[in-house]
Amino acid sequence: KVVAVIMVGGPTKGTRFRPLSFNTPKPLFPLAGQPMVHHPISACKRIPNLAQIFLIGFYDEKEFALYVSSISNELRVPVRYLKEDKPHGSAGGLYHFRNLIMEDSPSHIFLLNCDVCCNFPLPDMLEAHKRYGGMGTMLVVKVSAESANQFGTLVSDPVTNELLHYTEKPETFVSDLINCGVYIFTPDVFSAIEDVSNDREDRANLRRLSSIDISTSTRTNIPTDFVRLDQDILSPLSGKKQLYTYETMDYWEQIKTPGISLKCSGLYLAQFRLTSPHLLASGDGTRSATVVGDVFVHPSAKVHPTAKIGPNVSISANVRVGPGVRLISCIILDDVELEDNAIVINSIVGWKSSLGRWSRVQADGDYNSKLGITILGESVVVEQEVVVVNSIVLPNKILNVSVQDEIIL
Ligand code: GDD
Repeated sequence: KVVAVIMVGGPTKGTRFRPLSFNTPKPLFPLAGQPMVHHPISACKRIPNLAQIFLIGFYDEKEFALYVSSISNELRVPVRYLKEDKPHGSAGGLYHFRNLIMEDSPSHIFLLNCDVCCNFPLPDMLEAHKRYGGMGTMLVVKVSAESANQFGTLVSDPVTNELLHYTEKPETFVSDLINCGVYIFTPDVFSAIEDVSNDREDRANLRRLSSIDISTSTRTNIPTDFVRLDQDILSPLSGKKQLYTYETMDYWEQIKTPGISLKCSGLYLAQFRLTSPHLLASGDGTRSATVVGDVFVHPSAKVHPTAKIGPNVSISANVRVGPGVRLISCIILDDVELEDNAIVINSIVGWKSSLGRWSRVQADGDYNSKLGITILGESVVVEQEVVVVNSIVLPNKILNVSVQDEIIL
């Protein structure tokens, strides 16, 4: 049997995702009309002999309760949310729930970060992992040399794929091959984490006994049960024939900002073309709007037949799209009202917001720059004919004049 664990973090994480993470946990933010965490979960469906899926985080259980029960029914695989009482780090969180995770005596454990966007080639990783015969196999990808230092960078043996060297977010260039945050382990990973935490405890005791000046030690502030997968496990175990890499040639993104989430929404919509075309709007028939490229429209949304939408548009529940509206590259969240002839381009429109007639909400679409896409927080009102360009608007604002390149607090 195999189990999958998805690390979802908690409210103190995901702060770069503001204002969209103010009242929705980042893992539940919709990409291509499905919660972010839904994409790795549905990839788990393709794993043979999958017994359970666990989400581990320190958000309140009730935030995930509804989603977890509906997805369990849909997949017919138990999906459980396990809440940490405090953050234990990416490996510590896994270790904290080792008894539950090992309940079905799985031979392998997948471990996925929830904030990465890729096509999760999990069955292929499992095959490769079995061939390598190590304790763990990590999905890796080549990125541009300039961006590599934002990630865990590594060197792997070109012949055996063994992980030879690993440095988390290095200050100088190490390699353009990086850690994707998708792993498969044998249960031996628990002993490796235990060793780190025992080692910490020994050091702490030693310090107490020998009264070493605490301020000179770099490790003193880390509690013994806080273990990071990258620095504490991957770095020390590299070059020891225990860890291996599996390189993906497909798309991969890390979803830390709203700008990137819009890009990832588009990547997942394109993926739906191959895996779940029934989720995409067709635009067929005289009574439906004109659809261009990949578009998701929630069944409860009402879109006027004279509207034109796409490509890369996703429209959530209970949205009302009026006559003549034009939408390009955007995410429209629940309960938004778009009045006649409003235009939205390269933007995310927050829950319950409304756009008046002939208003425009747009940006130049540079996903990597802070104001490259326009974001309206929850319940923002853009009055008629007002134009909002390359701006971030915090919740509950009423805009009655046009703005450009501004953060409206
Ligand atoms: N449950 C729980 N508890 N989850 C956690 C905790 C914790 O204490 N700390 C982090 N996470 C989750 C985050 O929500 C995220 O999904 C994942 O673990 C990794 O988060 P970080 O440890 O903050 O690392 P990162 O996202 O900056 O970078 C990691 O992922 C990159 C790929 O996206 C590293 O592993 C990098 O090497 C890697 O390139």
